[in-house]
Amino acid sequence: MLQIENLNAAYGKVEVLHNISLSVPKGKVVTLIGSNGAGKTTTMRAVSGMIQPTSGKISLNGKAITGLPSNKIARSGLAHSPEGRRVFATLSVTDNLLLGAFPRLTFGREKGDVPGDLARIFELFPRLKERAEQQAGTLSGGEQQMLAMGRALMLNPDVLLLDEPSMGLAPLLVKEVFRIISELKGRGITMLLVEQFAAAALEVADYGYVLENGRISVHGPAGQLKNDPAVKAAYLGAAH
Ligand SMILES: Nc1ncnc2c1ncn2[C@@H]1O[C@H](COP(=O)(O)OP(=O)(O)O)[C@@H](O)[C@H]1O
Ligand SMILES: [Mg+2]
Repeated sequence: MLQIENLNAAYGKVEVLHNISLSVPKGKVVTLIGSNGAGKTTTMRAVSGMIQPTSGKISLNGKAITGLPSNKIARSGLAHSPEGRRVFATLSVTDNLLLGAFPRLTFGREKGDVPGDLARIFELFPRLKERAEQQAGTLSGGEQQMLAMGRALMLNPDVLLLDEPSMGLAPLLVKEVFRIISELKGRGITMLLVEQFAAAALEVADYGYVLENGRISVHGPAGQLKNDPAVKAAYLGAAH
């Protein structure tokens, strides 16, 4: 499980996160809701080591990972599917997926069945299978998003961070992304999810936190947040 305690983070001198505390229990899906610029992506970046927190504590399965480099955090079992995809454009789909398994092929992380997991990713994302040898940069936006998710899953992570997996996708593909998230939940994958479609995120999530200007303002079981009048008015109208 993932635990964040009193996390603060800044870009230069601009403080963005203020004493964020949240936990993602094993096997659960937790969603972080907030307007543009609230600090959702920054929270995920601080957790996965893309930026250094200024203070606070982050632990994964009871082990502190605060401030470690991202490769070490990945080896500890945390995978991050970042906002804006960031696939390796000149590599094939298959090579992008295998790079996600890199910590398992080198050291630190249990190797397990990499070819079997690759086959399972292709089952989960049939579009990627059809395009296995294609350069990732030539995929559509939706396909690249699926590749970013698949690459993160290839770590066999203990915790998966998904930052806006449906951003910029056509409605049918948005549905497909949520179907996949539900399927991953059914497999017991622990997730922290950020989604523009907050209502759909609360449907799949067990628990939610609302982030306002870098602070957690409300949190509770997803069913409770869905019916909270203030949350409904601010976040559940449409896409944010
Ligand atoms: N690389 C950056 N450098 C400076 N400021 C940033 C950077 N990335 C984000 N910010 C600022 O941090 C705040 C939180 O942004 P972000 O975490 O991306 O929000 P969200 O993901 O909730 O939309 C915003 O005010 C944003 O302008
Ligand atoms: Mg963001």
